[in-house]
Amino acid sequence: MLESAPNHAASPVSAGARALALSPPPMVQVRGLKMYFPIYTGLLQRRSGEVKAVDGLSFDIPAGQTLGLVGESGCGKSTCGRAMLRLYEPTAGQVIINGQEVSAAPAKLLRQLRPAMQMVFQDPQASLNPRMTVASIIGEPLLEHTRLSRAEQSERIDELLDQVGLNRNFANRYPHEFSGGQRQRIGIARALALNPKFIVCDEPIAALDVSIQAQVVNLLEGLQQRLGLTYLFISHDLSMVRHIANRVAVMYLGRIVELADRDALYASPHHPYSQALLSAVPEPDPQTEARRQRIVLTGDVPSPARPPQGCAFSTRCPQAMPHCRVTAPVLSEIEPGRQVACHLYTHQAASALVKVAH
Ligand SMILES: Nc1ncnc2c1ncn2[C@@H]1O[C@H](COP(=O)(O)OP(=O)(O)O)[C@@H](O)[C@H]1O
Ligand code: SF4
Ligand SMILES: [Mg+2]
Repeated sequence: MLESAPNHAASPVSAGARALALSPPPMVQVRGLKMYFPIYTGLLQRRSGEVKAVDGLSFDIPAGQTLGLVGESGCGKSTCGRAMLRLYEPTAGQVIINGQEVSAAPAKLLRQLRPAMQMVFQDPQASLNPRMTVASIIGEPLLEHTRLSRAEQSERIDELLDQVGLNRNFANRYPHEFSGGQRQRIGIARALALNPKFIVCDEPIAALDVSIQAQVVNLLEGLQQRLGLTYLFISHDLSMVRHIANRVAVMYLGRIVELADRDALYASPHHPYSQALLSAVPEPDPQTEARRQRIVLTGDVPSPARPPQGCAFSTRCPQAMPHCRVTAPVLSEIEPGRQVACHLYTHQAASALVKVAH
């Protein structure tokens, strides 16, 4: 036992090592995740290339925390979430959820792992079967993965309806009888049915009225606290991400360009793309809001089938330098807890090191 090793306890280095040994491993670990979709062209449908939708993502999510994943439409957020849960077969990389290597699990094991990892979808209308009652939608995973009796199932369904703030009397109704917000609550109840550890929330509020978006985010937050859930919260709404996330990953064209603690990122985004995205977010403080200067990006996101040479953001970056169009920057830790992929910082870091050396 570590406590009974006085030599170790005496030195500060060993104390640090001991803290490391005692801290639990992250609930989610992603290493080098890639998801390429093949492109087939011509009469013979030959494979002519690939869409690099997700191109080498690495990050951790500690248990009970939320990682926000942000970026413009088409940058690979949903593909990342789906590849993590093996709803797509990843092209490469490792995904470990709750200590299990999901990315390498054979079909039988994957089925056993499914309950621990769930997804809440953007469009509750499309993700709920219109011909099934609320009880059968929420109860379907119970039928598939548990041996609960009918009475136990209906007890669990009632419990889940309570947890998401829906009336138990709704159990025998159909999805079309509900509002968008209520339908999303049904989707959340279904995702909770098997006591998951990790949930990918893929734009869970994007299809909802602005007036009820906050209610659904508050519900997700409350459930996280009560049930100790870990979330990947995908959104293009940076105000909501600021509300719910502990850390935030900014994605551009299949890669993470900046990964930092929420407060650090919103106080001072470093990557030019993060700066542009955040410049569009209204500030809660009126004085800061008055000083906010919007950075408008020109041009569209390039196709991930033909990404620009060098830095993928170089075709739109207001600070691009000649060598940005030649060499791709590598995601590097530029300060504790903050990783950035941009030559502005890697060069500064290199010159700072040179100065220190002299
Ligand atoms: N099943 C698929 N087949 C081919 N290309 C796809 C598929 N799914 C997504 N893509 C492409 O991958 C890129 C990323 O898409 P997506 O992950 O949906 O982005 P986001 O969720 O950030 O809007 C887009 O260029 C999209 O067209
Ligand atoms: S590497 Fe160059 S082009 Fe890319 S974000 Fe940094 S400054 Fe802009
Ligand atoms: Mg998406």
